[in-house]
Amino acid sequence: MKLNTHRWWRDAVIYQVYVRSFLDSTGDGIGDLAGVRAGLPYLKKLGVDGIWLSPFYPSPQHDHGYDVADYCDVDPLFGDLAEFDLLMTDARRLGVKVLLDIVPNHCSSEHPWFQEALVSAPGSAARARFHFADGRGPDGAEPPNNWHAMFGGPAWSRVTEQDGTPGQWYLHMFTPEQPDLNWRNPEVGTHFDHVLRFWLDRGVDGFRIDVAAGLYKHPDLPDSPDPEADARTRDSVNPLAWNQPEVHDVWRHWRSVCEEYTGRDGRERLLVGEVSVRTAREHAQYVRHDELHQAFFFDLLSAPWNADAFRKVISEAMQDIAGTGSTVTWVLNNHDQVRTVTRYGELGTEGSGLGAARARAAALLMLALPGAAYIYQGEELGLPEVVDLPDDVLTDPIFRRTGSRARIRDGCRVPLPWSGHASPFGFTSGVESAKPWLPQPAYFAEYATDRALADTRSFWHLYRDGLQLRAGLPQLGEGVLRWLDTQPGVLGFVRGDGLVCAVNFGTAPTPAPVSGTPLLSSGPCAPGVLPGSTAAWWISDCTNP
Ligand code: GLC
Repeated sequence: MKLNTHRWWRDAVIYQVYVRSFLDSTGDGIGDLAGVRAGLPYLKKLGVDGIWLSPFYPSPQHDHGYDVADYCDVDPLFGDLAEFDLLMTDARRLGVKVLLDIVPNHCSSEHPWFQEALVSAPGSAARARFHFADGRGPDGAEPPNNWHAMFGGPAWSRVTEQDGTPGQWYLHMFTPEQPDLNWRNPEVGTHFDHVLRFWLDRGVDGFRIDVAAGLYKHPDLPDSPDPEADARTRDSVNPLAWNQPEVHDVWRHWRSVCEEYTGRDGRERLLVGEVSVRTAREHAQYVRHDELHQAFFFDLLSAPWNADAFRKVISEAMQDIAGTGSTVTWVLNNHDQVRTVTRYGELGTEGSGLGAARARAAALLMLALPGAAYIYQGEELGLPEVVDLPDDVLTDPIFRRTGSRARIRDGCRVPLPWSGHASPFGFTSGVESAKPWLPQPAYFAEYATDRALADTRSFWHLYRDGLQLRAGLPQLGEGVLRWLDTQPGVLGFVRGDGLVCAVNFGTAPTPAPVSGTPLLSSGPCAPGVLPGSTAAWWISDCTNP
C-alpha cells in the first residue's frame, strides 16, 4: 500500500461535483447537497479519494455560484448548513475527503459589502473594499482604464450615485455581477480568514481556490499594454490585473492556517489553486513549499491529441514541479471546458467512437501519471458535450455577454443521467413535472449510471478498475516516470519498478512495448499489440524493450 497516507493529497484522485447538476433530491430540477450525500456511496464505489464541491453558498447565480453573496452559509437552492453537516458526517464515515470551492477574487454584487458600497460616497470605507475609481474623459464617462473582462466587454461598470447622477466606476474582471475585492484593504483578508476557519471548523479537508492568480491588481490600475490580446482570450494575460507578487503572501498565510489545523489533529488540509499564469515558472511559484499545496496543471487539458504534444506537457509539468514540494495535479475535464469525448473527436468522425476511444485512453494515461488527478462528474460515464442546446436555455454569462456560442460552458454542465430511458433519467427525485435546469438529450439514456455499472465495458468500469489498481499498486501515484523509446505516435513510460503505460495516439495498431497481456487497457488489446487510440498498463520486468 501507499506510504503517503498522511500526505493524502499528493496522489489523491478527486471527483469534482458540480452540485447543481449532480443529483436533485427536492424535485426542483436543480441538484443539491442532499443529492450529493445520496451519491456518496456511488463515488465511494468508483474509488475516488475525495470530492470538490462547486460553490453552494447563497448567490443570485449569475455565474452559478461563483458570485457569492454570503461565504458562510448554504443557498436554500442547495439545502442548508444542517444538510451540509450531514454530508460531512457521511463523507467522514465513508472516508471521502471534502474540498470546498472558495472564491476570493470577487463576490456577488448582492453581497452586503457591495450593497453598502453602492449607497456610500466616493472615497468611503465601504467603497475601499472594492476597486471604485473615477472615470476618464469629459464627465468621467469613460472607464478608468482599458482593461477587458474575462467574459466579454469592459472590466468596469459605472454606478449611479445616491443623488441620481452618473458616478464612479467599479472593477469586475468577470461579469458586472462579480465586483473584484480590493485585497490591498486588510479588511478583505481578515474576512477570508474568518471564512476559512468557519468551514475548517465544520470539518472540511481543504479548498479549491477560484482564480488564485487574481486577488491583487497593480496598485495604480494603469492601462494594459495589450488590450487586444486581453480581449481575444479567456486566459489571464493582462500583466497588471493578474499574478501580482503580493498574492503569494495570501497563500503563505492561508497555508499557515491549514498547518495550524493539521497541528491540532494531524489531518492535512489541502489548498489547490486554479492558477492561470503565462509561464510554467510562474505557475511553480504558487506551489512553493509554504504556499499552495497544489495548482491545477491545465496544459494536459489543452494539449491536442498528439503524442509529441502530450509528452512535452507532461515533461514540462514534471520539471516545473521538481523542487517545489508539490506534486502535479492532472486534469482532463472540468465545468469550464468541452468534455474530452467531444474534444478528441474529429470533424467527420461523429459516430465512429473515435473521441470516446481517445478519452478512455487519456483517462488511463492520466491515472498512470505521477501526482494527483481530478475527474469531473460525468467523465466516468464518458458523457459527451451537449453541443446543440438551444439559445433560449443557455445560462452561461459568456453567451449573454459576448453573444457568441464559442467556448460557452453549458454543454458540459447538463445534469447527470442516473437511470431510466427518458429525461430526467433519475436526476430529479421522481416528481413528474420536474425538469432538469438544462435539458438532457434523449441519448443520455445510453450513459445512465445504472447502465454503466451493469456493463463491464463501460467508461465507469475503466475508471473504477484504474482507480482500484492505482490504489493498490505501489508503482502508481506519487513519484517519477521514465520515458520509453517508442514508435512515432506512441507514448510509453515506466513507473517504479516496472509498471508500463503506453498510449497509441494513431489509428493503426502498433506492436506493444511489452509482450504479455495488459493488466488493464482502454479497449480490446491482444497480447503484443497496441491498437490505435488505445492505452494499456502492463507489469513488466523488461522496462525498455
Ligand atoms: C473560475 C471558475 C469559473 C468561473 C470563474 C469566475 O474560472 O472555474 O467557472 O466562472 O472562475 O469565478
